[in-house]
Amino acid sequence: MFKSYHKLIFSAIAMSALASTTLLADGSKNYADGPDKGKRVIDGGVTYPIKHGMTSSYHVNEKTLKGGFKLGRTATKNEIKKWDIDEMPDGKGFPEGKGTAEEGEEIYENKCIACHFDFGAGGNGYPALSKGNAYDLHKTLTNQRTTPDKDGPVRVYGSYWPKVSTLWWYIKTGMPHNAPMSLTNDQVYALVAYISNLNELKFTDGTEIDEETEINKDNILKIDLPNKNGFIPDIDHGLDNVRKFYANYKNYGNGKRCMHNCFKGKPKVQRIVVDMATTALPPISTKRDLPKKKAGGNVDKSKEIYASKCAMCHDSGAAGAPVKGDKKAWAPRIKQGMATLYKHGIKGKGAMPPKGGASMLLDTEFKKVVDYIVNSSK
Ligand code: HEC
Ligand code: HEC
Repeated sequence: MFKSYHKLIFSAIAMSALASTTLLADGSKNYADGPDKGKRVIDGGVTYPIKHGMTSSYHVNEKTLKGGFKLGRTATKNEIKKWDIDEMPDGKGFPEGKGTAEEGEEIYENKCIACHFDFGAGGNGYPALSKGNAYDLHKTLTNQRTTPDKDGPVRVYGSYWPKVSTLWWYIKTGMPHNAPMSLTNDQVYALVAYISNLNELKFTDGTEIDEETEINKDNILKIDLPNKNGFIPDIDHGLDNVRKFYANYKNYGNGKRCMHNCFKGKPKVQRIVVDMATTALPPISTKRDLPKKKAGGNVDKSKEIYASKCAMCHDSGAAGAPVKGDKKAWAPRIKQGMATLYKHGIKGKGAMPPKGGASMLLDTEFKKVVDYIVNSSK
């Protein structure tokens, strides 16, 4: 019988290490037979302290425990330096670099579209990065309060986020989801330009952000986000300032003070049904353009589709994806038969999202891309 006496990490890796290591070493008993043969207790992470080389009545081979499971390694100074960045709303920390929406679009189509869809529309659980004109959509944030008949708030970067610096930092350190910290500073500026352009954002002086507008560290914070004051009142630090702010109801009310008995007419009561899928999370798109039919018929676009929708994982092996052309990795998969491969691809399997995230592909198109991968990998 296995008895756990050490703090265990119950991950698959830890469990397999446990199974193949002689953790219990009293030397005399072989639990592979005897009355406890075949039995094993996994105790759900209970910690037994080791005292005098023993946990309760069990001896512990402390030698085998030295160094734990040897997972990972200490980060190097340079790695820590690379990750230790801070781009703040006051402009501090922004690095040199520049990019335009035009450049950003190309990067987006290579590295982001598989999850965030065309023009940042989002879908399949991936957040939308734009829903159209941010200034119009900003009005929806107060829909339930001011016009209770309207739909719920639309919360995307353009309509909802108060600070542009968050977008820069989020993309730099978190995206693409499967390869964070892989983008150059220029690429991140370009993506901020592109996503801001999709949201139809302007600079604070009213200038538009068009395809060629360059975003850099000097103008990034001049992008005018409509919800910049939407989270906290903009009060200078200091208790006196806070008191002064709240003493004037005009700062936060609609300008009219009304506590009771001052409402004329019949109050309109609207109950809000909280639908987690649409109101609590960034909205999920249901609208998507159908793929355009090319005149001229059946041109096989599999190679292009592969490059824009699958390569980000299947070229690099990101997330454990079998690399295209790696015969050894594909042989056992091909053995399953094409029908199974299609099915796994369309429904998703493990870290592979349904259709690799490219849900706009028709089944027939997707299958052709699988054919293309398989033909290049055997
Ligand atoms: C493999 C899928 C994947 C790829 C590729 C990807 N993202 Fe994301 N992205 C996500 C997921 C999942 C989230 C939500 C993360 C969360 O909420 O924790 C997200 C969130 C975001 C957000 C925050 C949206 C919000 O309103 O909360 C931004 C901005 C973003 N991604 C930008 C990008 C950019 C730019 C790229 C390309 C460089 C990219 N993503 C590539 C999966 C992906
Ligand atoms: C976000 C990363 C990602 C993207 C994008 C992606 N894949 Fe995959 N794919 C994976 C991973 C990971 C696996 C391995 C899944 C497993 O076996 O658990 C996989 C496996 C597969 C398999 C084999 C399934 C099986 O039964 O062995 C096929 C076929 C496949 N992908 C096709 C595609 C096609 C076609 C595209 C583009 C339209 C694509 N993938 C895009 C990550 C991805």
